[in-house]
Amino acid sequence: MISINDIRKPILKDLEAFDKFIADNFSAEGELLKEMLTYALSSRGKGIRPILTLLIASMHSPIVAREGYTDDKPHCTKRTYLAAMLVEMIHTASLIHDDVLDSADERRGKPSVNAKWQSNMAIILGDYILARTMALGMASAQYDLISHIGSAMATLCEGEVLQSQHADKYDTTRDDYFDIIYRKTASLLGVSAALGALSVGANRGDVERMQKFGEAIGMAFQIQDDILDYKRDNNTGKPTNNDLREHKITLPMIEVMERASEQQRKEMIELLRRADSDNEALDKLHNIVVEDGGLGYAAEVLKSYLTRATHLIHKYEETPFRKSLLDLCTFIAERDR
Ligand code: IPE
Ligand code: IPE
Ligand code: MG
Ligand code: MG
Repeated sequence: MISINDIRKPILKDLEAFDKFIADNFSAEGELLKEMLTYALSSRGKGIRPILTLLIASMHSPIVAREGYTDDKPHCTKRTYLAAMLVEMIHTASLIHDDVLDSADERRGKPSVNAKWQSNMAIILGDYILARTMALGMASAQYDLISHIGSAMATLCEGEVLQSQHADKYDTTRDDYFDIIYRKTASLLGVSAALGALSVGANRGDVERMQKFGEAIGMAFQIQDDILDYKRDNNTGKPTNNDLREHKITLPMIEVMERASEQQRKEMIELLRRADSDNEALDKLHNIVVEDGGLGYAAEVLKSYLTRATHLIHKYEETPFRKSLLDLCTFIAERDR
């Protein structure tokens, strides 16, 4: 099984420089804000988005083209670290807000910010991180990078609102689902990938290709997240069955509903209506989706996105960076965290 550490290997020096870049640039004023920010930043996630930015920047790096690849020195410059910081901080803030929206009390194996300090503080902390991120971006004057970030932030919010609207009406269709996950997740992964290429001066065709690559793996990534929500023995450090509890119809349930009779569909929606307060209904619905093969059907769709992604990087030279990007595709399909 592929681990994140395998994927990180070719860019370890860049990841070190990136960590230092965040430590040097990201701080808070005021005791409580400092405490909350330290808490939020200390439990780091997998870091998929900055890994994507750094791998793709390295794959297009003129330094590597000139001097060749070595794993004992970085391949990127401050402009790429800034890009990686922008995407990871937008992600961090969006998770803090997402846990408020989803009433989730656990994140990365620890109490969520809203569970520890209440929702009002979580909203302010998320806003603070977004504001600091944009201020750092503006101060750097790298406006081409920031304009991508601004539109990804807006798209992400559109996805969250759309999802909540459909959850309230119990009417998420297959098309709605793909639209939602494109906006809330794939779009930011697409920008993480595009900015990697853009930050090292890649041409327009390559930037666009990398954006498509990031979006394809982003779709797969969110489908896997939705599959993992059904798996009680996962290692995500997040509560399970939270989607059903929040009335969210995700791909595993959509797949089963499309194959079910009208009567069964009605029964499933009825169970979903009760899933937030009635554990028996929640378990029953969970079991129907799992027993009728919903997770396997969803995994097939996930694989088709990963196939699309791997085709997009086939033409690249066989470097350790390309190898890691291919490993990242495998990791997304296999991950349980
Ligand atoms: C979680 O993202 C939110 C989704 C888009 C599924 P990650 O799984 O990348 O979160 P961390 O950063 O590793 O915690
Ligand atoms: C993904 O939404 C988070 C964002 C894109 C903001 P989810 O609600 O599905 O993610 P998790 O499962 O809580 O990480
Ligand atoms: Mg959530
Ligand atoms: Mg959510």
